[in-house]
Amino acid sequence: MDIIVVIASVVLLSATNVHGRKDLAEPASAGGTDFEAFNCRAQSGSIMDFGGVGDGKTSNTKAFQAAITKLGAAPGGGQLIIPAGKFLTSPFKLASHFTLYLQKDAVILAAPEEAEYPVVDALPSYGKGNGPGMGRFTPFISGSDLTDVVITGDNGTIDGQGQFWYDKDATLKAHRPHLIEIMNTKDILISKVTLANSPSYHFHPVYSSNVIVRGITILANLTTKNTDGIIPDSTTNMLIEDSYIASGEDCVSLKSGMDDFGVKFAKPTSQIAIRRLTCITPTSSLISIGSEMSGGVSDVRAEDNTVINSESGIRIKTNPGRGGHVKDIHVRKITMDTMKWAFFMTGEFASQPNKNPPAATPPVIEGINLMDMTAKNVSTAGQLGGIKGHPFNGICMSNITIEMAKAPPPAPPAWNCSDVAGTSSTVTPPICPPLAAKGPPACKFPTDKLPIETVKLQKCPVQVSAKASGPSASPVGKAPSPSP
Ligand SMILES: *[C@@H]1O[C@H](CO)[C@@H](O)[C@H](O)[C@H]1NC(C)=O
Ligand SMILES: *[C@@H]1O[C@H](CO)[C@@H](O)[C@H](O)[C@H]1NC(C)=O
Ligand SMILES: *[C@@H]1O[C@H](CO)[C@@H](O)[C@H](O)[C@H]1NC(C)=O
Ligand SMILES: *[C@@H]1O[C@H](CO)[C@@H](O)[C@H](O)[C@H]1NC(C)=O
Ligand SMILES: *[C@@H]1O[C@H](CO)[C@@H](O)[C@H](O)[C@H]1NC(C)=O
Repeated sequence: MDIIVVIASVVLLSATNVHGRKDLAEPASAGGTDFEAFNCRAQSGSIMDFGGVGDGKTSNTKAFQAAITKLGAAPGGGQLIIPAGKFLTSPFKLASHFTLYLQKDAVILAAPEEAEYPVVDALPSYGKGNGPGMGRFTPFISGSDLTDVVITGDNGTIDGQGQFWYDKDATLKAHRPHLIEIMNTKDILISKVTLANSPSYHFHPVYSSNVIVRGITILANLTTKNTDGIIPDSTTNMLIEDSYIASGEDCVSLKSGMDDFGVKFAKPTSQIAIRRLTCITPTSSLISIGSEMSGGVSDVRAEDNTVINSESGIRIKTNPGRGGHVKDIHVRKITMDTMKWAFFMTGEFASQPNKNPPAATPPVIEGINLMDMTAKNVSTAGQLGGIKGHPFNGICMSNITIEMAKAPPPAPPAWNCSDVAGTSSTVTPPICPPLAAKGPPACKFPTDKLPIETVKLQKCPVQVSAKASGPSASPVGKAPSPSP
């Protein structure tokens, strides 16, 4: 096992390894790909250095554990490179100042063995969880209380082998595992990877901040529930952009705990930017808020997204016992094609068996701004129902053109609104009476930037392994600098 430590700057290509030898690191362009990260790492190793076998059958659980134990403790940070091949492994945990780099055609395969995913408690903001006394299986890739975690590469794949779990769903005693769940962590970057076939959520940052998701692909079975793409959960200052998501449930879902547990835990999801996504989710939506939103969801800015063959563009779900709030939601420029409801809101969402104590006060939903959108082949423009006696307030819609699907007469109403209030301007077809009051020509959209949108990443070179085994990658890296 030979980890090469490289003390060199990005431009300085000669390097010194742990044994004091001088190695000549190849320029990144001669067999590596530059990638962006919060910080480059001082040490790097390939899974092959730790006994990795990429045949899709041999277990690499020990190799991953050894590699992350070693590289995760490396001064100046460590980077684990996964070369082309299929690396089967049981769940593993990430480390601080750590980069998992998947080369082209690298696949990390989640072992389909229930016993390898011990059941853990529901999250504290969820209390009993959204099932009958349910715990949850350990996530496949997880991390907790970390700083600066990066998963990137040249579009390698992390495959959760979800079908194994879907087939057993009726008999499972806990929630199916999430593919990647990172908790209580600052500075997370996930880019240029494919996340496939998660048993449940694909990427679930919880109680975290400063998160970037950029240029990823998420591919899941379109008929399986709860295989949501990206779920910021009680997470702040997060940017999600330039990605393609096709999944069985929401492409992006914003959550923050459930009922009285979520209200008391009081960790909102806020400062979230979502842009340039393409989403396909036949029974769900591009962006969903709730139904678990008891810690609050606010300051969401979504623009330039495309959603096709899906149930909804924007969906807000809650119920009278949830508490919390959904405030200052700004969405513009969604292109929608073939939707059941372009917009869906409900204050009576109750399809989950729920054993939590309810919040003391009903949720407050206000300041929902939707503008500059086109949609075609839509069955219902808006199914918008708030809570009786507690309407969803301050809904603003402007410059929205929805082309309805051809339906045999009598055509269903384009809008179906109750317990909602707000204003509108230039909306086609003509909007429902509760939102018909004349509003500003354009609804609000923030002009400032979120802190995460101004973070400058470093360019880090990575070298492709010279051979399939033995000491391999020797990237040049800069010593970590404090993140913003
Ligand atoms: C990454 O791989 C996925 C799955 O093979 C593919 O659908 C996607 O187009 C690839 N993305 C890029 C940027 O090459
Ligand atoms: C999707 O999941 C369903 C239900 O488990 C299964 O019947 C179907 O074969 C899966 N589709 C694909 C493409 O794997
Ligand atoms: C319109 O939507 C329906 C489903 O509601 C779908 O079957 C049909 O193919 C779509 N038409 C076009 C032209 O996309
Ligand atoms: C209305 O929205 C469309 C996008 O759907 C956009 O191209 C256009 O500029 C908007 N019009 C105004 C007046 O903002
Ligand atoms: C209108 O919405 C209410 C709930 O808000 C629902 O019960 C009703 O079925 C809807 N009507 C139509 C025609 O979809």
